[in-house]
Amino acid sequence: MQGKYKALWLNHDNFLEVIDQTKLPFSYETKVLKTTEEIVSAIKDMTVRGAGVIGSVAAFGIYTACMEIESDYEQLKQKAKLIRESRPTAVNLMWAVDKMMELLKSSNNLIEDSKKYAIDLNDEEAKESQNIARYGCDIIEDILKQKNKTRINILTHCNAGWLAVIDEGTALAPIYEAKKRGIDVHVWVDETRPRNQGASLTAWELTQSGINHTIIADNTGGHLMQHDMVDMVITGADRVSANGDVANKIGTYLKALAAYDNNIPFYVAIPVSTFDFEIKDGVKEIPIELRSEDEVKYMRGVDSDGIVREVLITPKDSPAINYGFDVTPARLITGLITDKGVCKADLETIEKKFRG
Ligand code: MRU
Repeated sequence: MQGKYKALWLNHDNFLEVIDQTKLPFSYETKVLKTTEEIVSAIKDMTVRGAGVIGSVAAFGIYTACMEIESDYEQLKQKAKLIRESRPTAVNLMWAVDKMMELLKSSNNLIEDSKKYAIDLNDEEAKESQNIARYGCDIIEDILKQKNKTRINILTHCNAGWLAVIDEGTALAPIYEAKKRGIDVHVWVDETRPRNQGASLTAWELTQSGINHTIIADNTGGHLMQHDMVDMVITGADRVSANGDVANKIGTYLKALAAYDNNIPFYVAIPVSTFDFEIKDGVKEIPIELRSEDEVKYMRGVDSDGIVREVLITPKDSPAINYGFDVTPARLITGLITDKGVCKADLETIEKKFRG
């Protein structure tokens, strides 16, 4: 949790309340999600987004579903399926639903137990993000020492802050920790077309925390790297295969290639729930979400009267295609910053460290 904010909470009526992320950065609004249908829509339309938070909402979604069906586990399974299928790429969603359903199998009080398990799951994630913050910030300190510098320039893509993962985020967690440790940190924020999670959400988060940052158009990173203006890249991830390939917001792969070419460390910060041990080749096998072409063709912003408007920026009839994610091969990744420590992105290390 950063300052006064949290991405979601149970309100005084015991319903899930979330920040409506589609309204940021122009207005801060919250939404109460009272039914399974509302939970599923909030995930689909990205009222809530970011791998970890989708998982958290899914866990509370199971609790919400339990309130609707009361004690019929078979009926709960059908609602769980709807939640599980609401978005395809972030594995935290499936992980959270499966974990909740497994825990509830032998429950005699679905409502009470699901509420407790969802709260536990979120408390656990919050602790994990604090660990990621510490391990990641140790790397920042090492880089500063090696380079004999006092200011670190970090490039990040999309939003992997506390809006995306309870409670400190993943990619942004080490940055928040750096601020706490008194490190002079500056963040290059990729705008992250088409939905602009960087320009709208990461920039908003960093502003709330008083962290120095500059928004850049998505294609700027390579140029900055060639001119020694980036010391490291940190991104989050939506799914990491057993061999260390990383699915993250579309455009991440190009940043990893540019970082590799310029010998700049490229780290990916994740909780262990982001691993998909069943997938051995992420590039070939991780399912990539295809979203509406309108997200590419239209942009949203505030006009000079302060009114939020959506405008068409392409010829009306030109077709567009909107892949939500891409996969960065493990060979381009310097290391994975997990809640259990930093490790290499390769099959042997991952299996040994995380599968016992
Ligand atoms: O489509 P989104 O906004 O849900 O995408 C997820 C992301 O925000 C990113 O890919 C992020 O870097 C990883 S989420 C911890």
